[in-house]
Amino acid sequence: MRHLLDTQSLGRSDALRILDVAEDMADTQRREVKKLPTLRGKTVVNLFFEDSTRTRISFEAAAKRLSADVINFSAKGSSVSKGESLQDTAQTLQAMGADAVVIRHGASGAPRTLATSGWITAGVVNAGDGTHEHPTQALLDAFTIRKRRYGGESRGRDLAGVKVTIVGDVLHSRVARSNVWLLHTLGAEVTLVAPPTLVPQDVSRWPARILYDLDEAIADGPDALMMLRIQLERMNAAYFPTEREYSRRWGLDARRLNALGADSIVMHPGPMNRGLEISAEAADSARSTVLEQVANGVSVRMAALYLLLAGAEGDADTTDATRKVTPR
Ligand code: NCD
Repeated sequence: MRHLLDTQSLGRSDALRILDVAEDMADTQRREVKKLPTLRGKTVVNLFFEDSTRTRISFEAAAKRLSADVINFSAKGSSVSKGESLQDTAQTLQAMGADAVVIRHGASGAPRTLATSGWITAGVVNAGDGTHEHPTQALLDAFTIRKRRYGGESRGRDLAGVKVTIVGDVLHSRVARSNVWLLHTLGAEVTLVAPPTLVPQDVSRWPARILYDLDEAIADGPDALMMLRIQLERMNAAYFPTEREYSRRWGLDARRLNALGADSIVMHPGPMNRGLEISAEAADSARSTVLEQVANGVSVRMAALYLLLAGAEGDADTTDATRKVTPR
């Protein structure tokens, strides 16, 4: 794997390999000393042109636990705010010897531009580009669903027969897009629930069923209910009458939470708008995997960085990862 740009083009075996290596990484994260020597001498640059809390610190923690040197670059306070182009920024990173660049950008397609431009030789990881994709979020979500379902027996398994329902602002959500593609590749059945105004135009080409009624979707018995953040910062028009009306029809309140099946889980990528798309009861309930998703995110990003940076050298054998990180 040279880059991780999207899940739409990520094949089943590569996806499972990332999830399985992430299992090994998670095992090492239960040890007292969490740091592994695997990426010693490598430099990972976090290039964030958009705000982020958990994704940026998650990549930072992942790179540091693999002993890479980490450079954090955020566009605010940098020469980007003086009008420096992506090309000049990239060439500066290249001159500094970056081995991997983790990029978050407001423009859909910016990571691919960086990966294919010839400006840099580093591997590129998409950490969220506009409304396009957020592949490591989808991978950590799949990891979380698999772990809750199969526990210690997760390795090698896909998500065949698992029902996942994604609710809310699908229109602006790169998390929804990456999840739809990955979950479909892994054999899950995906349902999207949103107000008609927040359903993307091209959704008929997505491998997912569309519903407009959340109660109907819950009655269908999803294994995982993934609530999306209402992305007010990307809204330039009125997509729903009032926030109150939105939360009444598409919010996960206590009544809907109780209507879920005994084993179903509630997911949210964060940051949450408590009281809008998700109630405090739902966010803090035993069904909620919100904090597990954050913890799993570090393991999944360790796996992605490992496969990009160490897996590229010599043999790209999967067992190589386990041998390096899990002495048996
Ligand atoms: C998501 C993002 O930035 O795309 N958050 C995240 O990465 N944890 C979702 C969101 O902002 O709603």
